[in-house]
Order: sequence, then C-alpha cells, then structure tokens
Amino acid sequence: MVGSSGRSGEPPTTGHEWDGLTEFDNPLPRWWLWIFYATVLWSVAYWVAMPAWPLVEGYTRGLLGYSQRAVVAGQIADRHAMQAQYVERIAAASLEEIQADPELLSFALAGGQSAFAVNCSQCHGSGAQGAVGYPNLNDDDWLWGGSLEAIAYTIRHGVRNDSDESRYSEMPAYGRDELLEPQQIDDVVRYVMSLSTGTADTAGSDGAAIFAEQCGFCHGADGRGLADLGAPDLTDAIWLYGDDYGSVRAQVENPRSGVMPGWGDRLPSETIKQLAIYVHALGGGT
Ligand code: HEC
Ligand code: HEC
Repeated sequence: MVGSSGRSGEPPTTGHEWDGLTEFDNPLPRWWLWIFYATVLWSVAYWVAMPAWPLVEGYTRGLLGYSQRAVVAGQIADRHAMQAQYVERIAAASLEEIQADPELLSFALAGGQSAFAVNCSQCHGSGAQGAVGYPNLNDDDWLWGGSLEAIAYTIRHGVRNDSDESRYSEMPAYGRDELLEPQQIDDVVRYVMSLSTGTADTAGSDGAAIFAEQCGFCHGADGRGLADLGAPDLTDAIWLYGDDYGSVRAQVENPRSGVMPGWGDRLPSETIKQLAIYVHALGGGT
C-alpha cells in the first residue's frame, strides 16, 4: 500500500495504518527545510571554526583559536591593570588624601570591604557588628581611638599580641589576685553599673571611692575611658563583655584582655589603608 492514494483529491498516504487510521505523505514545508539545511551548514562551519570535538587527549581547537579560558584570563589581566593604577595611588597617598579623593575613596571602600570579609569577619562579624569580647566597629565607641590613624595603627599592629608595637594594656585581676575584697568588688561593680544606667543603688557603698582609687587611672576619673590604654568608656551603654551584674563582676574579678593579631606583616600596606578607610567609614570619629 506504500504511496497509495487515499480517497480522491487527498494526498497519498505513507502506507502506515493503525486501526484504520492512515498517515498522509505530505512534503515537508519549504521554510522548515531551508532552516534545517541552514542549521546543518551552520553546525559544520561551527565545528571547523570553533573548538568542538573531544579527542583522546585535548580537543579540536577550531580555526579561530577561541578559548573561554583565554578570554577570562584576559579579563582578569585587564582588571588587574585597571586596579594597579589605583593600588599605586593608594600606596603613595596618605589616609587623608585617599579620603578626600572620591575616586580613591570608593576604590578603598570596596577593597576594604572585601578584605574585611576575608580577614576580619570571623571575629568582628560579617557586618562588623562584633560579639562578646569582639568590639562592634559600626558604632562610634572606640577602645583604642577612632581617628583614621588610630584605626590604621590598631589594624597594623593588633592588640596584646607578641609584637613590640602591639597596642597593650592589662586590667588588673582584682578578684583572682585578691587586690580587692569581695565586698569592695560588689560595691565598685554596682558603682560602674550606675554610671551607664544612672539607676543602680550605690547608697552607702564605697564604690565611688574605690573607683577613684583603683580604676580612674585607666578608665578616667569620670569613667569615660582612655583610648591610650584601650580602657572602655564605662558611662555609655556599650559593653564589650556584657552589661549584667555577672558579666561586669566577672570582668573586674578576672579580666579577659582581648587579643587581636596584627595585620602589618600579613597584608600589604595598601590593603591596611583600605581597611582603615573602610572601618573608619563604618563609624569612625575621634
Ligand atoms: C582573632 C580575632 C580577630 C580578628 C581576626 C580581627 N580582630 Fe580586630 N579585634 C579583636 C579583638 C579581640 C579586639 C579588641 C581588643 C581589645 O579588647 O582591646 C579587636 C579590636 C579591633 C579594633 C579596635 C576597636 C576599637 O574599639 O578601638 C579594630 C579597628 C579592629 N579590631 C579591626 C580589625 C580588622 C580591620 C581586622 C581584619 C584585618 C580584624 N580586626 C581582625 C579580634 C580580632
Ligand atoms: C590598667 C588599666 C585598667 C585599670 C586599672 C582598670 N581597668 Fe577596667 N579595663 C581596662 C581595659 C584595657 C579593659 C578592656 C579589656 C579588654 O579589652 O579585654 C577594661 C575593661 C573593663 C570593663 C569591661 C567593660 C565592657 O565594655 O565590657 C569593666 C566593667 C571594667 N574594666 C571595670 C574596671 C573597674 C571597676 C576597675 C577598678 C576596680 C578597672 N576596670 C580598672 C583597663 C583597666
């Protein structure tokens, strides 16, 4: 029955039949055929021009010699070349000059942010919000000073590490070393808490006198802290180690003395500058 015509006036059928249903043998539409041939030609041309067929080792490279790897390598090289001029300018400029130049500033902020994510966020948090013992860098409350220079110094040399240039100070352990009686510690802790809340009951206690005698040297007679010694302001409501009685008492009895590594010998000087600019922008001040 192949090629036999159906009923009169209808095209021939293919001869296939399923339960009485037959299939017309129409020619393929012209437009479809042309597109089909065009794609066949295109694919042959593509095989010849572009990398296409895998071989036992490697692949056919194509007449055009195109390689995505080379394209990416080129883009990276372009980017480095573009950055190099900024990096050089940052290396040559002072922190203030970088801050005053909008172009350098935005480059430094972006570079500082990514260096922060890689090197600093594990301790200070991805948003620099800090945690117990790790200062929040977004507020304008600074242990060691919030000027550009002070921040750059802290980053470069760190805090209480082995380097000679490290920032250093040590709060005495009034409890562990029995420098104060437990009652005196209780008094001074309540006094310290009253500095920020203004509500704690210090009536009849020696807290103020003990503070003046023992603590004012580092925390300031008014308790507002001293950046030279990294001694926190005790009058604000910002706490490194917690604001409840237990945390404050624990600090007075047995201070933790936080340690931060110095980055001067791990990161290039330009990166330290970018970090200082970035951290300062988060919440710098004096
Ligand atoms: C291993 C944990 C750790 C890492 C990593 C770390 N820091 Fe710190 N950082 C600390 C601690 C702890 C302190 C507080 C030290 C203290 O108690 O005085 C601190 C303090 C600081 C301060 C001073 C804050 C103030 O109030 O004066 C700055 C600025 C700072 N870090 C920036 C950075 C930057 C930038 C990086 C990344 C290059 C970084 N830190 C990486 C632990 C860390
Ligand atoms: C030699 C300087 C020094 C003296 C004296 C000193 N402190 Fe401190 N104090 C510090 C430093 C430095 C820190 C920050 C410690 C750290 O970063 O780990 C601190 C932290 C604290 C904190 C924690 C603050 C917070 O934000 O969590 C409290 C509370 C405190 N001191 C109370 C006292 C009291 C009370 C006395 C007196 C009995 C005293 N300090 C004496 C240097 C001192």
